[in-house]
Amino acid sequence: MLRSVFLLNSLGLALGGTILWDGRFNDMTSSTELDNWSWSDETGPYQYYIHGTENVTSYVNLDSTFKNPVDTGSTQGVKVTLDSTSYWDGQTMRRTELIPQTSAAINKGTVYYHFSMQRTDTNAPSEFREHQICFFESHFTEMKAGWISGESGTSDALLRWDVSSATQWNTTWEAGVWHNIAYAIDFDAGSVAFYHSTGADDLVLTVPAVTVSASSNGADWHLGVLELPRDGYTDATEDIYFSGVYVESSDLTTSVSGPGNTSASGVASSVSVASMSAPASSSVVGSASTVSSAPASTSSTAATVASSSSAPSGVTVSSSADTASVSSTLTPSTTLSTVIVPPTSTSTPTDPDDDDDCE
Ligand SMILES: *[C@@H]1O[C@H](CO)[C@@H](O)[C@H](O)[C@H]1NC(C)=O
Ligand SMILES: *[C@@H]1O[C@H](CO)[C@@H](O)[C@H](O)[C@H]1NC(C)=O
Ligand SMILES: *[C@@H]1O[C@H](CO)[C@@H](O)[C@H](O)[C@H]1NC(C)=O
Ligand SMILES: *[C@@H]1O[C@H](CO)[C@@H](O)[C@H](O)[C@H]1NC(C)=O
Repeated sequence: MLRSVFLLNSLGLALGGTILWDGRFNDMTSSTELDNWSWSDETGPYQYYIHGTENVTSYVNLDSTFKNPVDTGSTQGVKVTLDSTSYWDGQTMRRTELIPQTSAAINKGTVYYHFSMQRTDTNAPSEFREHQICFFESHFTEMKAGWISGESGTSDALLRWDVSSATQWNTTWEAGVWHNIAYAIDFDAGSVAFYHSTGADDLVLTVPAVTVSASSNGADWHLGVLELPRDGYTDATEDIYFSGVYVESSDLTTSVSGPGNTSASGVASSVSVASMSAPASSSVVGSASTVSSAPASTSSTAATVASSSSAPSGVTVSSSADTASVSSTLTPSTTLSTVIVPPTSTSTPTDPDDDDDCE
């Protein structure tokens, strides 16, 4: 499955960064295609295994109305749902999560994890429980919403950006507002900066780089939501919407429209006029100045292409990589407890059967 977005770069267009992994659902007609993926056949853009017992359409759905409407780089967005069945693997948390399926270097150097997110008044996420959203395994960067376990009071209306459970930014999470977000992660220096905007606005650096032990095995970023249980609060159905999901390197694309149409089919048709014109409106800024090891933002497109194509462009997942991925993902890790029990929690029991849960 080719995802040769680098062809676009070779045309010398101002595309912004190099897309390492594209999770924008442009090539999918239905969320049921997520069922194509399995540990023995790691196909498609996402690993789909952290979910409840029902069919995929109970938890994940795609539609053009589920995206930030100004995002012309995405044909559709995703609605991620928690319902009364959203318990995975015997855990007490409700979880619906998608994980990038790629061998691209999304866990090295300086990379930008892009997504937009929204809630509505229908099936609004509970303000009474902690939601961990778009998190890495070690929780070095994530969004949070609702009452944080251990917090005083009973409810919390905030949407937060947290670094290792320390809130760096927050806003009241209003219905119907698209929050556009990029985590600017420097895996080498160990830092993460927060780019944010709402609606149609370009991303702006909102929190400069925060020093943190940034690490990832390349398959532990969770698009979606994990909700912690809380005594006395019953499960209601909750929806969160996401769109514009991709990881890029080199330069940061600040336009909510993203770097344009990079779907495999779009490229395969040898770059349509639409594909070529869309990126022109994308505004680009240099790599975060706070991220020291980033390449100069003035590096030529040719240089970007050269370095991109010298890597095998992360499009083929070898069987040996599959095996490594499976084992590393299933091996219990010492960071497990940070997922199962938040540091501030005094009441959440450690999951008794976490032997194969590293998420
Ligand atoms: C899932 O499988 C179907 C049937 O083979 C195929 O048409 C579709 O492109 C696949 N989707 C993904 C995301 O792999
Ligand atoms: C899932 O979908 C299949 C095919 O439509 C159906 O036969 C099955 O009953 C569904 N399973 C659940 C748990 O809803
Ligand atoms: C939320 O942001 C405001 C404004 O920056 C700040 O005063 C407040 O302490 C923050 N709240 C939390 C929980 O971080
Ligand atoms: C990208 O191109 C493909 C193939 O031409 C097309 O089907 C798809 O709708 C396009 N996506 C966007 C976001 O324009």
